[in-house]
Order: sequence, then C-alpha cells, then structure tokens
Amino acid sequence: MFIIVDSLTGLSLRFARKIGYPVYQIDKDEIPFDQGEFFLITRSFNFGEIPISTIRVLRKHYQKCIGVAVSGNRNWGTNYGAAGDKIQEIYKIPLVLKFEGSGFEHESEIVKKYIEERGHE
Ligand SMILES: Cc1cc2nc3c(=O)[nH]c(=O)nc-3n(C[C@H](O)[C@H](O)[C@H](O)COP(=O)(O)O)c2cc1C
Repeated sequence: MFIIVDSLTGLSLRFARKIGYPVYQIDKDEIPFDQGEFFLITRSFNFGEIPISTIRVLRKHYQKCIGVAVSGNRNWGTNYGAAGDKIQEIYKIPLVLKFEGSGFEHESEIVKKYIEERGHE
C-alpha cells in the first residue's frame, strides 16, 4: 500500500506525508504501480476540474485505487473539492475526504483509518 499525490503548491503533499505510508508524487517520482493498491490524494483546480496529471494516472490505474482525498479551498463555493466528486462519479472510487490546504490532524487520521480498514496489500 502506498500513496500517490498530485500536488502543485505542496499543500496536498504535506497532508499526504502525515498519513504514514510511502508517498510518491505524480510527474516527479517513479511510481511503483506493480506493487498493487494505492490511495490517491489530489487537488481541484479551475472550477472543480481534475488535474490532467491525475487523469493520466487514473485512466491506466484506477482499478488499483482504493480511495481518494481531495485538497481544495472553500472560497470556490460549490466547486470546493469538486475534483473528488468527479473522480468518484467517473471512476467509482470512494471519495473519503475533502480538506482545505494541508488538512488538520484529525483529517489525516480519517484517511489513515480508511486505508487500514480497506487496504489489503
Ligand atoms: C488556479 C486555481 C484554481 C483552483 N480551483 C479550485 C477549485 O475549483 N476548487 C477548489 O476546491 N479549490 C481550488 N483551488 C485551490 C486548490 O485546490 C488548493 O489551494 C489546493 O490545496 C492546492 O493543493 P496543492 O498545494 O497540493 O497544489 C484552486 C487553486 C488555484 C491556484
């Protein structure tokens, strides 16, 4: 089990590093896709869109993604974290959490517990 993160300004990355599993960044690290299941942490941009870099990973590997958490900002109103709703709808991946910035302690715990309960590999 590992975490894949798509972070532009570093906030999602900081959140990912609090969870306690190996973290790999899209377009920066070599991601060990042959190691089985992963949890995805991504962000929303441009009125609730899924970053294209995240879409590229999901198109190929969505079946191994056990859940997603999305970073956003409530200032975006109805588009707050909307990338997560879209990922859930399109790829049927459970949206576990929307969080602002790099999240709070109890929010990283939510993801940690989810992985512990749902992850098998
Ligand atoms: C151009 C731009 C568009 C954004 N659009 C949204 C959005 O539609 N919905 C949202 O919730 N947050 C939006 N945000 C906020 C980012 O998702 C938020 O700052 C996020 O924490 C960034 O994560 P990162 O630091 O890992 O890149 C936007 C930010 C920028 C700069």
